[in-house]
Amino acid sequence: MIINFITIFPDFVESFTSFGLIKKAIRNNIIKLNIIPLSDYSTDNQNRVDDKPYGGGPGMLLRYEPIKKAMDSLGNNAYNIYLSPQGKKINKEVICNFLNMPEITLICGRYEGIDQRIIDNHIDEEISIGDYVISGGEIAAMVVLEALVRRIPGVPEDIESILSESFENGILDYPQFSRPETINGLSVPEVLLNGNHEEIRRWRRKMSLGITQSKRPDLLKNVKLTKEDDKLLKEYVDEQKKK
Ligand SMILES: C[S@@+](CC[C@H](N)C(=O)[O-])C[C@H]1O[C@@H](n2cnc3c(N)ncnc32)[C@H](O)[C@@H]1O
Repeated sequence: MIINFITIFPDFVESFTSFGLIKKAIRNNIIKLNIIPLSDYSTDNQNRVDDKPYGGGPGMLLRYEPIKKAMDSLGNNAYNIYLSPQGKKINKEVICNFLNMPEITLICGRYEGIDQRIIDNHIDEEISIGDYVISGGEIAAMVVLEALVRRIPGVPEDIESILSESFENGILDYPQFSRPETINGLSVPEVLLNGNHEEIRRWRRKMSLGITQSKRPDLLKNVKLTKEDDKLLKEYVDEQKKK
């Protein structure tokens, strides 16, 4: 998969992509990353890529020409994504959809954003990381990249660990513990220590369901619960009442 970034801060993106799963995916040729400095496509002598918005008002805007030239330099095979607070909110389905694409370009805005003519004519999808505004699209694009890369077969060592995570089956992950067994009087739940795989499975499912019900009840509305799930949820509620 080819993933292009168009950004005014290439070093920022470069540093982020030199760690963890993204670094591994690049090293193993599972993804090819092109980080395009927008300033390379400036059309003026001072390497500027921004200008004042027509009609006045505060701030600057990334101009049409440098962005279009940067996009053209990549050919026309990519699915073009503009990171924007006005976009569709990112979730697992949005990410999985990008997984099917051989090439995507992540266009990072700055200042007041980018010239609307780019959005209207050259962007396939606008994606938001939430209902708040950050200063630039780079971090939002990195969220997309990180969420995407960890789902590409061959990148994570243990795909099982991904499949048991929050949202995978429509519910949240169960609590996890590591050594030591007891610290400051706080112990690991007994069930996780007895080696009984069936009991551990039941406990994990119960905790996932219970935690989802208390933290994100909206998610449960879309999950088809089995008879066992109903029983586990009741057990969870009863146990919480006793606490
Ligand atoms: C300060 S913001 C511009 C906000 C724009 N004037 C608005 O109110 O819709 C600058 C850039 O940050 C990025 N950005 C800000 N918030 C974002 C969000 N929630 N999701 C994705 N990108 C975001 C976009 O690329 C945007 O062009």
